[in-house]
Parts: sequence; C-alpha cells; structure tokens
Amino acid sequence: MRDNAWVATSKRILVTGGAGYIGSNTTLQLLDAGYDVVVVDNLSRGHRESVDPARLRVVDLLDTDGLVRVMNENPCDAVIHFAAYIAVGESMKVPEVYFRNNTAGSLSLLTAMLKTGIRNIVFSSTAAVYGMPAHVPISESEPYAPVNAYGESKVMVEKMLDWFDIIHGLRSVCLRYFNAAGADPDCRAGENHEPETHLIPLILKAAQTGNPVTLFGNDYPTPDGTCIRDYIHVSDLARAHISALESLAKGGESKKYNVGTGHGYSVQEVVNAVREVTGRDVPFVFGPRREGDPPLLVADSTRLQHELGWKPVDSDLKRIVETAWQWANR
Ligand code: UFG
Repeated sequence: MRDNAWVATSKRILVTGGAGYIGSNTTLQLLDAGYDVVVVDNLSRGHRESVDPARLRVVDLLDTDGLVRVMNENPCDAVIHFAAYIAVGESMKVPEVYFRNNTAGSLSLLTAMLKTGIRNIVFSSTAAVYGMPAHVPISESEPYAPVNAYGESKVMVEKMLDWFDIIHGLRSVCLRYFNAAGADPDCRAGENHEPETHLIPLILKAAQTGNPVTLFGNDYPTPDGTCIRDYIHVSDLARAHISALESLAKGGESKKYNVGTGHGYSVQEVVNAVREVTGRDVPFVFGPRREGDPPLLVADSTRLQHELGWKPVDSDLKRIVETAWQWANR
C-alpha cells in the first residue's frame, strides 16, 4: 500500500464542476454510495439548480486562495476534477480561453491540493487526446495526438499530473471519456448545455419540435456513410469515477483509462434508435462534414474492466436514449 492511501471510512470528496452534466450525475452517485461531497463550481457553464445549495461553493478554479479556503474548511480525501470547457469548435476559435480555464485552472487546483495536503485526484479527460487515432478500438497506448485546442488543454493536464506524481507523490486517475450520453434513470440530472452541440440532445429536440437536425456528413468510410461513436451512459461514467476513487483509496498507482463500451453506433443508427424509443418522426437533413470529426472513435476499455472491475451496465443505446428522452421531457 502507498503512503498516501486514505481511510475509506472518512470519505469526503471535493468535486469541481459538480454543477455540470457529468459532475452533477457523479455527485448524485457519490451521495448514493455514502460519500460526503463538496462541490466547487464557478457556474459559468454549470447550473446552480443542479447542486444541493448546502454543498455548493461558488469559486473559480483560477482562484487558488479561494480553493485553499474551501479545502481547509472542508477537509477532503480526494478531488474529482470535472470543471472544464468542452466545446471543440469553440476551442479552435478562442484557444486562450481553453488553456486558461482547463489547463491553468487545473494547475491552480493542483497547487491548492499541494498546499492543503490532498494527494489524490480523479481527472476528467477525453478521447480527444488521441485525435485521429491510427488504431481502433483505441487503447491507452495510442499516442497523444490531439487535433484541437480542447484536446491539447487536457493532454497538458495529464502531463502535469505525471510530474506531480513523480515530484510530489500526488496520485491521479485520468479517465478518458468517449461520448457521454443519457441521463440519471431517476431523472435527477441530465444534459443541459447552452448552446447544445451534442448529437443525442439535438436529435431529441428535432423529435420534440419537428425542426430538422443537421447530420454532419454521409460520405464517411463507414457502412452507412455517417460517423461512428462510442456512446457511454453517464451513469456508467459516474461509476467509473467511484471505481477510480476506490483504487486510489487502496493506495493504487496513478493510471489512465479509457471509458467507453467498445461498441460504436453511427449517427444514422442513433437517429433510428430515437425514432424507435420515442415513436416520433425525427426530421433530419444531411449537411457537410464538421471539421475535425474522425470517422470512427471506439474505445478499448479492457484496462479499466480488468484492473478496476468496472463494466458498463446502462450503455445499451436504447437505454441511453430512453433516459435522455425522459430528461428532455421532464
Ligand atoms: N453530429 C451531427 N449533428 C449534430 C451534432 C453532432 O451529425 O448536430 C455528429 C458529429 O458529427 C459526430 C457525432 O454526431 O459524428 C457525435 O458528435 P458530438 O458533438 O455529440 O460528440 P463528439 O464525438 O464530437 O465529441 C465528444 C465530446 C467531446 C470529446 C469527444 C471525444 O463532446 O468533448 O467526444 O471523442 F472531445
């Protein structure tokens, strides 16, 4: 066991970005599992109503002193760090915003952790660190090759975490998410981005309003010509964070894991699934390709399954769409 192992009986977790989509779902699961949670969020993109007010501390990640104050007032065993901007297209227009919020913000958080003696972190990373990978399914040994500033902002944090482990003994688990989708099955939390850019909520909106969704490209080298992605239910993603925490609590080494199902669905198949689940027509038009979209992204997540015993249980596409539809009609 490593000297930074912590006692699993006193489990308070500081969650950054807990007012966001994946952060709010994970916070609920942490509470369900008996953890105590304090959320830090600046509410720039998250939603105040997504967090129990008694748990929320409105602090910007770049405010290191503010973070130190929260950590001193609420001693924590570990941090789960979600807070970040996620819009790939935006990152190619204003990369400075991404490097400031995602990269410099993470550095500020790590600095606060060092000052307060917190030595365990689960970091919200992304398949975007791989860019256009040469091998699919993608394993963790695929090299870093981001093709947008968003992906690069996350690569830089992963690399900082490597150095903080070597130099300060700060242990991390980086979870590289594939396509997060779906909502809490009890409809307590779900996806609510402004503006929304993700496929499933946009298709559901088309089913609700009758206004067509634009599908970006039907001339890709895939069976039906549309892009293939690995959709992972947000509840399965949330469980991966709890598995990662448990591994750190046992004194586990720093690790990087893909979080996906190993199964891809095309954009057209997602449209079909929405039609089936909702019983509604889904008007769509094909538009040009969206810049920077790889044709095929599917995870090899066997490392996570073998080492941490995690497995997806809610990520059947129908279940993803059912829970997202329930959330969209709440
Ligand atoms: N798509 C459409 N029409 C839309 C929106 C999306 O056809 O209106 C297509 C995209 O072209 C893509 C697929 O649906 O082929 C999925 O697109 P999303 O925008 O939902 O998700 P991405 O795969 O682009 O990105 C997601 C996360 C990123 C992360 C990336 C990692 O949103 O944060 O996965 O692979 F970097």
